[in-house]
Amino acid sequence: MNRGEPTAFSATPYGPSPTDVREHPVVTLRVASRPQMSETAYDRIGRGYAATRRADPRIAARIELALGTAESVVNVGAGAGSYEPVDRDVIAVEPSQEMIAQRPPGAARAIRGSAERLPLPDYVADAAMTVLSIHHWDDPASGVAEMRRVARRRIVVLTYDPDYVLRWWLGDYAPQIAADDAERFPSLDSLLGWLGGGAVETVEVPADCTDLFLGALWARPELVLSDEIRASTSGFARMHATQERAAIARLGNDLESGAWDERYGHLRETDELDVGLRLVVSELDQPG
Ligand SMILES: C[S@@+](CC[C@H](N)C(=O)[O-])C[C@H]1O[C@@H](n2cnc3c(N)ncnc32)[C@H](O)[C@@H]1O
Repeated sequence: MNRGEPTAFSATPYGPSPTDVREHPVVTLRVASRPQMSETAYDRIGRGYAATRRADPRIAARIELALGTAESVVNVGAGAGSYEPVDRDVIAVEPSQEMIAQRPPGAARAIRGSAERLPLPDYVADAAMTVLSIHHWDDPASGVAEMRRVARRRIVVLTYDPDYVLRWWLGDYAPQIAADDAERFPSLDSLLGWLGGGAVETVEVPADCTDLFLGALWARPELVLSDEIRASTSGFARMHATQERAAIARLGNDLESGAWDERYGHLRETDELDVGLRLVVSELDQPG
C-alpha cells in the first residue's frame, strides 16, 4: 500500500400539533389551518439520534462562516438542533415529532412542517439553511424554491455530491447504500440550478468527527459494527435487514482477519478526508 497517497476509495465507483401558533422573536406565525402531519420516516430512524449525531465543531464552524452576517436564519429539516446557530434568531422547521422531542433545552422552538411547504411568510429571515436533509425531501426543487421564498440574503446547504457518495470503502460492503444515496442526493448541477447559482465548497470530514453520520466513519470501521450508530444513519436504517446483516458480517470478518487493515489501514493515520460532503452557498437579493 502506498502510504504517501492514501486511498479510501473502493475499486467500484460508485409534538406539538402543527396547529400550534408560535411566538418567535422574528415573526408571529399563524399556521392554524394546516392539516395534521402524519408520522414521518424520521419518527423511526430518528430514535436515539441525539446520542450519536452530535454536531462536529469543525463542520459547525464552516456553516457559521457560510451564514456570514445573517442575523436571522430559517433552519429547514432542523432535526434535533445540530449545527443550529446559537447567537442568531432561528426559526427551526422539522417534520418529525421524534426529532423535535430531542431538541435540547434552550434550542429554538421548532415548527412542525416540511421543506416543500414552509409554514412561513415570504422573506422572513436573512438566511435559510439545511443540513444533511435535502436527500430526504420528496420534492427538493420545491423545497429549495421555498427556501428562496423565505430568505432575503443567503441560502446555505450542506449535502453530498451524489457523484462522489460512498466511493470510499463502505461502498465495498454496502453497495446498496451507495446506489440508494446516489439516487437520493440531488446532483450539484440541479441544486445550483434551483438556487439560481452559488459557490460549492468541499468539507473534508475529520477522522474523529463527533457527528457519526455514515461519511464520518471512514477511519473508524469498528463503529460501523455498532447497531446503535448504524440505526441513526438513514443509509443503514433503510437497508433490508438481511442485506445489512451480510454487510456487517463481511466487514467484521475483514476486521478480524486483518484484510480491512491491509487495504485501508492507512486511513487510521489520516486526519481528514473528502468523502463527498459539500457546502453550497447561494446569495440572494430579495426585498426586505
Ligand atoms: C439526517 S437528519 C438531519 C437533521 C439536522 N439537520 C442535523 O444536521 O442533525 C435529516 C432531517 O431531515 C428531516 N426531513 C425529512 N424530510 C423532510 C422534508 N420533506 N422537509 C424538511 N425536513 C425533512 C428529517 O425529519 C430529519 O430531521
